[in-house]
Amino acid sequence: MTQDTSQVEAILSQLQTAGASYKENTPGAREKLMSLSHDLISSLELPSEAIMRMGWAEPARAANCRTAVDLNIFEHLKQSGEAGITAKELAAKCSADEVLISRTMRHLAAMNVVSEKSENTYSATPLAEALSESRYRDGILFLYDVAGVSFRHLPEYLKNTGYKLPTSVTDGPFQAAHKTELSAFAWLDKTPPYLQAFNNYMSAYRFGKPSWVDPGFYPVSDRLIEGFNSDYSDVFLVDVGGGKGHDLHELKAKYPQIPGKLILQDRPAVISTVSDDSFEAVSHDFFTAQPIKHARAYYLHSILHNWGDDDCIKILQQLKPAMKPGYSRLLLNEIVVPRQNPTWPITSMDQLMLVLAAIQERTEAHLTELLKKAGFNIVKIYSYEFGQESLVEAELDVTTL
Ligand SMILES: C[S@@+](CC[C@H](N)C(=O)[O-])C[C@H]1O[C@@H](n2cnc3c(N)ncnc32)[C@H](O)[C@@H]1O
Repeated sequence: MTQDTSQVEAILSQLQTAGASYKENTPGAREKLMSLSHDLISSLELPSEAIMRMGWAEPARAANCRTAVDLNIFEHLKQSGEAGITAKELAAKCSADEVLISRTMRHLAAMNVVSEKSENTYSATPLAEALSESRYRDGILFLYDVAGVSFRHLPEYLKNTGYKLPTSVTDGPFQAAHKTELSAFAWLDKTPPYLQAFNNYMSAYRFGKPSWVDPGFYPVSDRLIEGFNSDYSDVFLVDVGGGKGHDLHELKAKYPQIPGKLILQDRPAVISTVSDDSFEAVSHDFFTAQPIKHARAYYLHSILHNWGDDDCIKILQQLKPAMKPGYSRLLLNEIVVPRQNPTWPITSMDQLMLVLAAIQERTEAHLTELLKKAGFNIVKIYSYEFGQESLVEAELDVTTL
């Protein structure tokens, strides 16, 4: 096969520039390096290698990681420290077959999940150490058992439905995979280990990525703290559908001078698991009227992307009577899909939404139209270089009140 080396050379030269920016801690440089590294692999990899990687190397890695979670292998690796642990010792700790563990570890090492220190002796990589923590371990559990199975049902589901776009939250690849008529959230409620795993993972899946409260992203002081008026309400921000409250915790930690109360709202099953004194946690169904009036901001993170347009409009309209015109701000922390060349973290999240709930990530034009229908105008969209999510600030459209 003749190789066109010019593309590889162009990527190598861009890698060098990105490497220099990375050394200087330039925002987005790490993401740029990773994106270029993917480009490099894609331009070098033969089709036969790509199919091998997608068809069995990556499925085997995912399955081996799932087994390793069941057997607490990542915890054993972490405890073994620098010295590492042999496959034989691991097998004894896990009460598993030594040859099986040896072959599992060999593949995990070949795929850079663990490190092989000497023949058949393994130690933890930073990834393996992270996978010993419950929030990441729960990510493997939820994504393998709940999302992965749904992806595997996607082609057959689409074939059976004549390649129509799935649009029902109760009839899609998720339901075909899990043999249920419940929506993914209703199913999670009835399947507590996965509900717990999902909530735990939600608190970690963005870990290390740019956050809306980081300097250079959304100007919290200028847009929210300045102008806060306790005569309207003593509530600074309501996190609607805020999960376990990780965003409020971070907001309070990064802005300890916040002048009012922080309120977390979510479903009772989630609120009952929360204990954090940075905020008040209350159960609230966001399809019902918002009880907290005239807060400075109503914040919804990854909420609208879970619902179709009609449901999003219902959710947003529940906020309107609570908001003080000209004062309360609506903040949506969402992926805004670029019109061209969105990155794989964005496109794959769109695919995840498709298989789990027949929904989608939205473009700016789509969000603008959706908000208009619900009676809001976008003030500005704040983004961070190579960030996956954007902060959409919106206000009441007073002509619709
Ligand atoms: C994708 S998670 C986002 C959690 C959090 N905002 C974040 O970004 O990490 C969606 C959240 O919406 C909550 N939720 C779903 N239906 C709800 C409802 N009807 N009322 C309130 N919260 C709901 C879920 O429990 C979950 O915590």
